[in-house]
Amino acid sequence: MNLQALIEDIRQQVLPFYDQGQVADYIPALAAVPPRQFAFAIHTLDGEQYACGDADTPFSMQSISKAFMLALTLQADGEQLWRHVGKEPSGNPFNSLVQLEYEHGIPRNPFINAGALAVTDRAIGHFGDAHARLLSWLRSETGNAALTADEAIASSERAHGDRNAALAHFMKSYGNIQHEVGDVLDQYFHNCSIALNCRELARAGLFLANHGVSTLTGERYLSRSQAKQVNAVMLTCGTYDAAGEFAYRVGLPVKSGVGGGLLAVIPGKMSIAVWSPQLDTRGNSVLGLEALDRFSTATGLSIF
Ligand code: DON
Repeated sequence: MNLQALIEDIRQQVLPFYDQGQVADYIPALAAVPPRQFAFAIHTLDGEQYACGDADTPFSMQSISKAFMLALTLQADGEQLWRHVGKEPSGNPFNSLVQLEYEHGIPRNPFINAGALAVTDRAIGHFGDAHARLLSWLRSETGNAALTADEAIASSERAHGDRNAALAHFMKSYGNIQHEVGDVLDQYFHNCSIALNCRELARAGLFLANHGVSTLTGERYLSRSQAKQVNAVMLTCGTYDAAGEFAYRVGLPVKSGVGGGLLAVIPGKMSIAVWSPQLDTRGNSVLGLEALDRFSTATGLSIF
């Protein structure tokens, strides 16, 4: 199958979905992103690359950073990580507080904000500067040494981060945050603010398709089993309260971010990055979902 022709065709099919969603506006710096943009990029384990649309335009990684932070922390922490965070879908919005009290400060999964904050706290215990560790890892996996956090987004997140602060303080009251809440939040906001483009995102996610091994350096980042675990949690929790719809329509492990990016993994074959900043009400890219649905349907490349 000609994947380049396919993704260009899919781009034409999804452009009519412009303006059915809205750019995230709860962080003012994200609200300034021009809404009508779309990119699709693929990296295969055979070394092929395909891209179309705005594939060289950087965007804010946002919650997609949580998948990479989970991988790094799982590598360092091993199974004990799961004492601090669960691995069940929450069925609730990404920033919900509701389950934390009756589940005694242990977040449902690493991809809701509370879970990502708990993972960041564990990562600080291992790496000190967890954000610097993530950034240097992404720089080496993308080959872009200039990759960095967008400070305007990071400070906008901080200025509007009361709910994340509430989540972190609440978990600390249960002993599930060890470090200073301000430090945990700062590193979390900086992780979310890392800017990269679709080609780079697909490149960075390729180790998850390659059972935990970097195709660039041959280094094993995760055991085969841990790579399976990260992909499984992406499938069941990566798109929050839309994880059921994504499994139904796309049938792949996917991690979304409110910058409009989506990272999808086809284990043993390829990684895919899609970006379009207009979001549905659950915080996932409207055109991104349409495009991934069409791609996995046309190719038959879903895990189901
Ligand atoms: O915590 C926040 O509000 C954001 N920085 C990240 C949220 C996000 O991307 C959720 N995903 N769809």
